[in-house]
Amino acid sequence: MTDVLDRIYRGDATEVLPDLRKKAGGPFVHLTVCSPPYNIGQPYAGYSDDLPYRDYLTMLTRTLRELRRATVVGGRLALNIPAGVNVRGGRAKSGYWAIQHDCHRAAVLAGWKPFGEVLWYKQQIYKRTAWGSWKQPSSPCFVYSWEHVQVFYNRSRRLEPNGHPADITGDEFKHWSDGFWHINPEGRKLGHPCPFPEKLVYRLVKFLCYPGMVVCDPWVGTGTTPAVARSLGRRWVGIDISSKYVRDARRRVAAVAGM
Ligand SMILES: C[S@@+](CC[C@H](N)C(=O)[O-])C[C@H]1O[C@@H](n2cnc3c(N)ncnc32)[C@H](O)[C@@H]1O
Repeated sequence: MTDVLDRIYRGDATEVLPDLRKKAGGPFVHLTVCSPPYNIGQPYAGYSDDLPYRDYLTMLTRTLRELRRATVVGGRLALNIPAGVNVRGGRAKSGYWAIQHDCHRAAVLAGWKPFGEVLWYKQQIYKRTAWGSWKQPSSPCFVYSWEHVQVFYNRSRRLEPNGHPADITGDEFKHWSDGFWHINPEGRKLGHPCPFPEKLVYRLVKFLCYPGMVVCDPWVGTGTTPAVARSLGRRWVGIDISSKYVRDARRRVAAVAGM
């Protein structure tokens, strides 16, 4: 089991996850913090983010099902998704679609039970460029300054403690259990179109699992989730289809001092 942990794997998460579960001798993940590709034509290295929408949802459901099978009873999934994207029109500006509802349904179809939700407010209003019809109701634009973090559990809402004392403080617990989180987006250029801010992962890890537990990200990108998990004394596993991101993420996590 320990052979499987604290590594970043290159490959398709739908194939790597069952393989890891087999090698670990059964479910081994306590918490997943992840953000899938959004199918909006992001310029990823090594992945075309432009599937027909049905194929995209099938990919999502399959990955989330394999993830649930790799997750212990009581384990959690924190799934970050935007408030709405132009999925139908591809890169054309026309088609708003509330992708968050379809992602929620994909998770439920994959066997996850809804636990709750965080609204991540990104405070980006000052950076906006798209006004649509300025000061005219004819065709104005909404700017989505927030994203969702939908939280699910596997079979039991209660996560059995592992004997390690929890590391969340009373103030953090009070503040974070109000599920409206003001967090700026990642400001550093990390060679990836959409890395998580570390603060988002930090809160989810401390709020949703104990030290020593295993945190996974099947779409690991720049490695934010394992880097933060390691800094907080959790074990970790990451997967990405792009060899460039896997190289970058391994370097990033290696530079983090573990506890
Ligand atoms: C939204 S990004 C994740 C960014 C990450 N949260 C971070 O902090 O950097 C989605 C990632 O999924 C990866 N990806 C796409 N399809 C995949 C697949 N089938 N298996 C594993 N990774 C995949 C992409 O290469 C991309 O890095």
